[in-house]
Amino acid sequence: MFKKLLSLVLMAVIIAGIFTNTANFVCAKSFRNNVEVESLVDRLYNVILDREPDEYELDYWYDSLVKRRNTAADFIFAIFEDDYYISLKKDNACFVNDLYRALFDREGAADEVAYFKVRLDAGISREYIIKDMIETVEFTNFCMDCSIERGSILEQLSVESYYNSHNYIVRLYNVALDRNPDYEGMLDWQKKLVNKDVTGAEAAYEFIFSDECVAKTVADEDFIKMLYKVMLDREADDDGIDTWVAALNAGNTREQLFAGFVNSQEFTDLCSDYGIARGNYLIGREIDPSKPMIALTFDDGPAEGTMRILEMLEQYNQAATFFVVGSNAKYYQDTLKKMEEIGCEIGNHTYNHPNLTNCAVATILEEISSTNEYIFNAVGHNATLIRPPYGAYNDIVKENVSVPLILWSVDTRDWATKSTTSTVNSVLTDAKDGSIVLMHDIHESTVDAACILIPELVDQGYELVTVSELAFYKGIELEPGGAYYSIK
Ligand code: NI
Repeated sequence: MFKKLLSLVLMAVIIAGIFTNTANFVCAKSFRNNVEVESLVDRLYNVILDREPDEYELDYWYDSLVKRRNTAADFIFAIFEDDYYISLKKDNACFVNDLYRALFDREGAADEVAYFKVRLDAGISREYIIKDMIETVEFTNFCMDCSIERGSILEQLSVESYYNSHNYIVRLYNVALDRNPDYEGMLDWQKKLVNKDVTGAEAAYEFIFSDECVAKTVADEDFIKMLYKVMLDREADDDGIDTWVAALNAGNTREQLFAGFVNSQEFTDLCSDYGIARGNYLIGREIDPSKPMIALTFDDGPAEGTMRILEMLEQYNQAATFFVVGSNAKYYQDTLKKMEEIGCEIGNHTYNHPNLTNCAVATILEEISSTNEYIFNAVGHNATLIRPPYGAYNDIVKENVSVPLILWSVDTRDWATKSTTSTVNSVLTDAKDGSIVLMHDIHESTVDAACILIPELVDQGYELVTVSELAFYKGIELEPGGAYYSIK
């Protein structure tokens, strides 16, 4: 692809060179000597805008095309986006015909027109059809022949991701709302998705929790089937339905189920295939984004004292992240539920706390999945983050985790000092906006420190947030397998 592009560019440069020489020579005779380009500009105005370009317009576009300040794609797109053309409200067949006449100076053959019309009728946007036509061999050759730069619109998009994000939105309309998308609405969603202005999770939430959808998924099973269809693009299997029904019966909310789907590997993979941002679904807490933020994190629990930290967080409406080990998580299911309930985040700290850089891949996967099982049992979804024991990771670890790796920027060394005062002082001295603070809730001295720190930091004007909230409010997309020490 790159080679092809390069040779195209080279060829264009050579042709441009030849042309420039000729241009100097013929300059005296004619102001606009590139007849093809002049007639392209002329044709676009006549065919699309039903009028001649005025002198200024002709000069402007002719010049910017010949001097390569604009590409042919820029020009064509500008004309098709003109308010006048849009006000004509041409139907799909007319639109395709206009494109053929404007770009190729000919009528489209019946099968050519039919090909594009089918796509348009199925809801593919006009933007995309213009892109498709610009990128045809016929138009590419035309641009090379008259030595202008063809260009493209929607450069950042692969064709595939465009279609996929399109299909995703159509599915949201069809399945969640039981109706076909309206053209404007769909185009708007699609643009926002491909530009990453909204995430896959945000789009899904808007549809799934809309009044229209809530009204038609009164039964839990219908709700679950709909989540599978919309978010994973497949039918629910019986095991899946059983698991999620059990999670709801155990007191999980539909929002928590939704969070589980968002965090699933399958949805993560699907969004990455679609070339859209997956995003995160945070079970709502009121956060003032203008305040400085600190993410307190607690490793190796849950333990007896964890509940005390949670109660303190709840009292002050703050949150923290708990990187739990599976060997403790299995005994503290209620503590995990409490974390989820008050908006804390649960990370995975492996089952046996090994140094993962010394582990075989199978062991790494087993350490993570067995811990996730206990987290899932309690809260209905897997851990959203992982903290490798000892902060030790390498490329193999990064390649085999499906969530972000979270390290820390403030090490309280609470496990070594076992001193409440020293732990408190460490945080008050070193933590600042964007810090990720490492502590261990298995030590009573740390629990005591947390109970002093939470009110104190709130008093100092900080928001105590989870790691995902910190990333969200700082505008950072945490990548699976990426390693993060602080988030600013
Ligand atoms: Ni640890």
